[in-house]
Amino acid sequence: MFNFHSTASLIFGNETAVNSSDQIVNLLGKNIFVITDEGLTELGLYDKIIKKLQSNSNINIFDKVESDPSKSTLLKAFDEAADFKSTGVLGFGGGSSMDVAKLISLLLGSNQNIDTIWGVNNAKGPRIPLVLIPTTAGTGSEVTPISIITMDDKEKKGVSSKLILPDLAILDPSLTINLPPNITASTGIDAMVHAIEAYTSINPNNNPISKMLSIEALKFLGSSIKTAVFEGHNINARSNMLFGSMLAGKAFANSPVAAVHALAYPIGGLFNISHGLSNSLVLPSVMKFNSINKETKKNYANLAPFVFKDLDSSKSDEIVCNNFIESLESLSKELKLPYRLRDLKIPEEACQLMASEAMKQTRLLVNNPRKIEESDAFNIYKSVW
Ligand SMILES: [Fe+2]
Repeated sequence: MFNFHSTASLIFGNETAVNSSDQIVNLLGKNIFVITDEGLTELGLYDKIIKKLQSNSNINIFDKVESDPSKSTLLKAFDEAADFKSTGVLGFGGGSSMDVAKLISLLLGSNQNIDTIWGVNNAKGPRIPLVLIPTTAGTGSEVTPISIITMDDKEKKGVSSKLILPDLAILDPSLTINLPPNITASTGIDAMVHAIEAYTSINPNNNPISKMLSIEALKFLGSSIKTAVFEGHNINARSNMLFGSMLAGKAFANSPVAAVHALAYPIGGLFNISHGLSNSLVLPSVMKFNSINKETKKNYANLAPFVFKDLDSSKSDEIVCNNFIESLESLSKELKLPYRLRDLKIPEEACQLMASEAMKQTRLLVNNPRKIEESDAFNIYKSVW
């Protein structure tokens, strides 16, 4: 028995963001509250889209979303959106903007006290209409029921509820064409982590659809990540990354991620390291830790050839699994991502604090195929330091 929920409608294709203004207006109504970040304002990435929407609707743009968005940003956006009498919310940007947009549409529609929404299925709803347009290929937030916000004490809290799946996601690869190589690399690895962790999750809702989506996601991501990083204007590679990250998002939305994410969050929360990079830093070490488990080793060996098509999968699970982990390590290096915590000026003493912080991510740790204690987390951070 399992449940599977996903975004009701998707539109995929080049220039679809600018060409879908009728659908957006139909869904979001007269007063559209746009949630985005200043970087995209400077780039002018949404100018054409907004211009088309303005011929039928009033638009209010909130572009103060930072990476790892804070509760205070969420509250600021909420006040502005309520004053504007928003009829619908359009999230435009990376995972941060989309995560804030999800919660604004929920809070506006339900008037629920913000302190009671955190956790799994605590959101009451309803929400007001919501459309999401990703501009990075990684988080898959456009198809997940999850929103992550950083509290005042730096702890990450999440809302997980199918209520915050949007009414429509528009996936337009042309919006991702100018993403710099380092962001393309780290968000791309994040998407791969979603697929790997969804496939191996011991969550009781892990299911055959998520497994199938994880494999398909890894084929697209594995075959295109290098091209997307080193030839950013290659629209096929960009399409494959956006498509693959969406598939991985659907997979982990229904078979939740585990210890890689749990150990990544303290790195991001305490040291302002991006979510994707935090994941890529701990991925190989967490996989080594998990692969002691025989079944997990087999699962990793199953996935390996889908990511690295030249990897010889005829060997034993032990060998294929080790080669997979080594290949992922080499991939990060090839993509020029930092791979040691010390290179990011994270002090060695912080390993203990990060380990105790990681233990708070019980929502994720319960999905990990091997039980992870604080001392294990500490050893993993040390090995990455
Ligand atoms: Fe992630």
